[in-house]
Amino acid sequence: MGQHSTSDQPRDSAGTNSTPPWRATVITLLPDCLPGPLGVSLAGQALKDGIWALEAVALRDFGIGKHANVDDTPAGGGAGMVLRADVVGPAIEAARLQNPNTPVLYMSPRGTPLTQTMVEAWSKGPGLTILAGRFEGVDQRVLDAHDIEEVSIGDYVLSGGEVAAMAVLDACVRLLPGVMGQPQSLAEESFSNGLLEYPHYTRPRSWQGRDIPDVLLSGDHQKIADWRRAEALAITEARRPDLLKGVK
Ligand code: ADE
Repeated sequence: MGQHSTSDQPRDSAGTNSTPPWRATVITLLPDCLPGPLGVSLAGQALKDGIWALEAVALRDFGIGKHANVDDTPAGGGAGMVLRADVVGPAIEAARLQNPNTPVLYMSPRGTPLTQTMVEAWSKGPGLTILAGRFEGVDQRVLDAHDIEEVSIGDYVLSGGEVAAMAVLDACVRLLPGVMGQPQSLAEESFSNGLLEYPHYTRPRSWQGRDIPDVLLSGDHQKIADWRRAEALAITEARRPDLLKGVK
């Protein structure tokens, strides 16, 4: 995938463009990673429908010299390679021209841990520009020079930022109007009310000696809602007590 959109613009009955898509730009050494899993299922259909658009800015296009070098050894010595400021800087500027007025994220294990609250805020904006690093990281000066938010998807180290960028985009895109079939399921899912989600069951009624809890078959909507709330509280208390601060 090059620096071109993978989606057509949505068209109204007059054949003209309607609302502009939520726009994502990923700055990467590996543009072929995109759209990856975002090209199928709900996100993929929404991409085809023009609800969102995805563009890659290839870092290699900004490489230096005959070999289009993008990295060099760390100042002060040490293992690995660092992405050069004079490569990443111009790539960020190009991405900003392509996708103006969007927050610029840098995916990194030392960033702010990603939360559903951050995702909700970004999905309400015009889109995102995401820098996906490789090697040991990016020259610090380029992060300092641009208004960049460092974001982590968890306390572990990936081999590059692309998978992390796709996680952020997947989480944002599914919240865009028209992407999910049933908006009600968004309201009930984990984190949306500060709790982990209650357990789900479906047919068969009895499976390998395990039955669906009776209350779910009672038809009493209030009792079912109360049971689900109690289960959500219990599972949150057991697995993520930190989330319960501030939940009424
Ligand atoms: N790049 C490498 N590891 C990462 C992580 N845990 N989160 C975000 N970006 C990363």
